[in-house]
Amino acid sequence: MSRAYAWWQREIIYQIYPRSFQDSNGDGVGDLRGILSRVDYLTSLNVGAIWLSPIYPSPMHDFGYDVADYCAIDPRFGTMADFNELLVEIHRRGMRLIVDLVPNHTSDEHPWFVESRRDGDNAKSDWYIWRDPAPGGGLPNNWLSHFGGPAWTFDERRGQYYMHQFARQQPELNHRNPEVFEALLEVMRFWLDRGVDGFRVDVISLLLKDPLFRDEPPNPAWDGVRQYASLRHIHTGNLPEVHGLIRRMRALLDSRDARMMVGEVYLPNAELMRFYGGPEAPECHLPFNFQLISTPWQAGEVRAKVDAYEAALPPGAWPNWVLGNHDQHRLATRVGLAQARVATMLLLTLRGTPTCYYGDEIGLRDVALPPECWRDPVAINQPQIAHLLGRDPERTPMQWDSSANAGFAAAGVLPWLPVAGDHRTVNVAAESADPQSILSFFRALTALRRTEPALSVGAYRSIDAGTDDVFAYLRSDGGRCLLVALNFADEQTKPVLPEWLGRRGELVLSTRNGRSPTVGLDRLELAANEGILVRLPVADAGTRRRLSP
Ligand code: NOJ
Repeated sequence: MSRAYAWWQREIIYQIYPRSFQDSNGDGVGDLRGILSRVDYLTSLNVGAIWLSPIYPSPMHDFGYDVADYCAIDPRFGTMADFNELLVEIHRRGMRLIVDLVPNHTSDEHPWFVESRRDGDNAKSDWYIWRDPAPGGGLPNNWLSHFGGPAWTFDERRGQYYMHQFARQQPELNHRNPEVFEALLEVMRFWLDRGVDGFRVDVISLLLKDPLFRDEPPNPAWDGVRQYASLRHIHTGNLPEVHGLIRRMRALLDSRDARMMVGEVYLPNAELMRFYGGPEAPECHLPFNFQLISTPWQAGEVRAKVDAYEAALPPGAWPNWVLGNHDQHRLATRVGLAQARVATMLLLTLRGTPTCYYGDEIGLRDVALPPECWRDPVAINQPQIAHLLGRDPERTPMQWDSSANAGFAAAGVLPWLPVAGDHRTVNVAAESADPQSILSFFRALTALRRTEPALSVGAYRSIDAGTDDVFAYLRSDGGRCLLVALNFADEQTKPVLPEWLGRRGELVLSTRNGRSPTVGLDRLELAANEGILVRLPVADAGTRRRLSP
C-alpha cells in the first residue's frame, strides 16, 4: 500500500564524523573534500540522508561542538564552496543533507561570548548564563558538568561565574533572552537558505535552566562512579518551557519544503514522547531514540524495549532507532562481532527511521588508546573513568583499504587519532570484494529496504518465538509480510511459531550464507548468532498500522 511518506521516514540516516571520514589535504584530519571523494561510497550504501557532525569554525575543545561561528566552515574542513559542492553532489545522487545545530552553547571564542564577558553592561552581557558568586563566595549552586567538575567557571573580568554543562570552553547561551533565540533562528535560516534538508539538534532538551538556579537534589541511585550522575538533573534539563522554543524551531522548518529536525534527547519514553509535540503544535520530526544502546543485549530485553517504545508513541509520531554514534562505544564492541550482523538486521528492519554511525557497516570496533593519544575532554578530565566514558575509541579513522593509514590519509601523515590495528582486513575495499562480509550484508539489506515497503514503512508486531534467545517480529504492508527472527545466542536454536504451523516461507536474507531458500516455519532452525528475514505467504492481519504524520 503506498501512502505519502516523507524522505526522513523512508530513508536511512548515515552519520559522518567529519574529522574521521577522509582526509584530503594531508593534515590527518578528515574534511569536506574528503567526504566529496567518497560520495559514491555513500550511494553504494543505499542510505538516503547524510548527517554531518559540526563543520563550523571551532577551537575544537569538544571537536566542533564548541562553535565559534555558526555560519561558516572551519578551514580544517574546507570552505563554503566545498560545502556547496558537497551539498550539490549529495542532492544530485538523490540523498539529503542534515547538518548539526548546537544551540545550547557556543565556544568561548565566539564573538558573542567575547563581547558578553567584556563587562556586565554590553549589548550581549545577558546572552549567556552569568551568576554572581554565592553570598559567602564560591560557586553559585551545585550544578555539575557532564564532562566532570562544576558547571560554573569564574571569569575574572566580570567577577562572575558563567555556566557550562560541558567543557568550560562551552559557555551556555541564555535562551530566556528572546534576542538569543532569534539569533538561533537566524542561524537556521542561513543554512536552510543554503539548501540543507534538516538539522540534528544537539542536546535540545537542555536549552533552558531553572530561572531560580536552585540546587539539584542528590541521586539516591548513584553508583559512586561518575560525578555528574550524583545529582538528579531536574533544574538543568527537560524543563517544560523548552517545548515552546522547539515549537518555534519547527514552525520555521514547516515554512520551508520537506525539511526536518532530529533532536538529541536522552530521556525515558514518557518524557521523550513529549518532544514530538502534538498535532496542533508539532516539535521534533524525530526525537532520537537511543534506548537500545543501553539495553542489555538479550532477546527478551530488546523485545520489551521495542514494544514499550511502540506502545508509547503518540498517534502520528514516527519511530526511529539508533545503535551507535560518536558518543557511544562502537556497536561491534558492545554486542560483540558475532552479534554485529544481528544488531544491523534489527536496526534496519524495525519500524522507523534508522541512524547508522559511519564504520559500523564494516564492523569497526572501539580502538583502545593509551593516555597520550586521548583527545576527548571527557577522558582527559576524568582519567580514572576514561575507559568507561572516553569517546576517542569510537571516533577513529574510517578504514577504506589495507594501506598504512587505511586510505583515510596519505601514507606518512599522522592521523588525529590512530587507525585501528585490524584495518588490513577490516576495510571497505576488502569487504566489498567479499560477498560474505558484514558490508556486503549491510548493502544487501539496505537495498532490500529500499524496494520493500513492508520494511521501510510497514506495520510492526512482535511475536512469541518459544525461546528466550530469539526476538521475532512481523513487518507488513498491504499484501506483503516479512518475518524477522533474530537469534541473540551463541548457539543454535529452534524457535516455535505456533501461528505459522504447517506454513512455508521464502528466505529473503540471512546474516550467514548457505541457507536453503525455503523455510519450513514449523521446523525453523537458527544457527548461532543468526538473523533471518523470511517472506510469509500471506499478509499478517494483526500487525499494528499507524498512519504517517
Ligand atoms: C552532545 C554531542 O553529541 C557531544 O559529542 C557533545 O560533546 C555534547 N553534546 C556537547 O555539545
